[in-house]
Amino acid sequence: MKRVLVATGGGDCPGLNAVIRAVVKRAAQERDWEVIGSIQSYDGILREPTEIMVLDEKAVAGIHVDGGTIIGTTNKGGPFAWPFKNQDGTWGAVDRSDEMIRKLQYLGVDAVISIGGDGSQKISQQLFEKGLKIIGVPKTIDNDLSATDFTFGFQTAVQIATESVDKLVTTAASHNRVLVLEVMGRNAGWIALNTAIAGGAEVCLIPEIPYDIEKVAEKLYSRYSKGKGHAIVVIAEGAAPKGGTLLAEKSDEVGYENVRLGGVARKLVNDLKAIGFEADMRETVLGHLQRGGVPIAYDRILATQFGVKAFEMVLEGKYGEMVAYRHPNIISVPFHEAIDSPNFVDPNCDLVKTAKGVGIGFGD
Ligand code: F6P
Repeated sequence: MKRVLVATGGGDCPGLNAVIRAVVKRAAQERDWEVIGSIQSYDGILREPTEIMVLDEKAVAGIHVDGGTIIGTTNKGGPFAWPFKNQDGTWGAVDRSDEMIRKLQYLGVDAVISIGGDGSQKISQQLFEKGLKIIGVPKTIDNDLSATDFTFGFQTAVQIATESVDKLVTTAASHNRVLVLEVMGRNAGWIALNTAIAGGAEVCLIPEIPYDIEKVAEKLYSRYSKGKGHAIVVIAEGAAPKGGTLLAEKSDEVGYENVRLGGVARKLVNDLKAIGFEADMRETVLGHLQRGGVPIAYDRILATQFGVKAFEMVLEGKYGEMVAYRHPNIISVPFHEAIDSPNFVDPNCDLVKTAKGVGIGFGD
């Protein structure tokens, strides 16, 4: 029997379980393959005792409907930077990648499928360079990987954020308020842009288009019409005013390398007040609500396509590559291509033009 190990790394994302199920169901059609999962990304391999889970058809039955990942995930540490407590109580990191590869050999693992975002796929590339037979599956609600038209989870996040705008509109209208919704996306404005169009927001602020606070106020005044109207602003967590900087703080969680973004909605409200904008304003930070729960049909389908393709790449020996969606095809691209260039919103793209065409202001 040959073994493929599946790991989910980075933040969770609607559709992870659908990928796992698809890998297992496709593998079950080959008589000589079995699938195992490493618990919490590669931590399951590196821990003593090892934490792995047999993934057969029974284990994955019906999980495409569920959010999260049945094998757990983490966005801390990893085989190249395993958290290590020094004698003085401070934390450092140690490279355990060689040890992990030896453990995988000991466990009879013939191939690895790593489902994760840019951080996870950078690790995939490094492991591939060390000789591991590994295939990547991209995942992130941020949709910020340029090698693929879409990542699964993104459309679900947009759906959740749009439904949130729909709800905010009723309060905004009833109270004649300006309501500001802060959404995720890190340095990419895709979730905010799509949500603003689908939800019919008046203003959309994204990292790729630094905003002028006076222009934002001007746009809002035109809709707020002396206290009788209302308006919705969708702001991406990575958005910043012209000449301003990203609102981010270093996390104190051991092994967590990313900065934590957040607080831009509150800042916007305060800055609007500071320039004399008089409307009643409130902010809502959507946070992890947009990453949780049931994936919408689109993401289940894309995730299933990615899972089937990933296992077929194992059969073809296409290691060192990541699954990608290039409409209408599911293709594969070398890791280095996949991780080299992020996918940000082009301020001149058709989607921004569409938004401006229906009167959405970007504060530019
Ligand atoms: O990359 C996905 C994402 O949800 C970002 O949009 C967000 O900034 C970040 O992860 C939050 O990470 P965490 O769950 O570690 O707080």
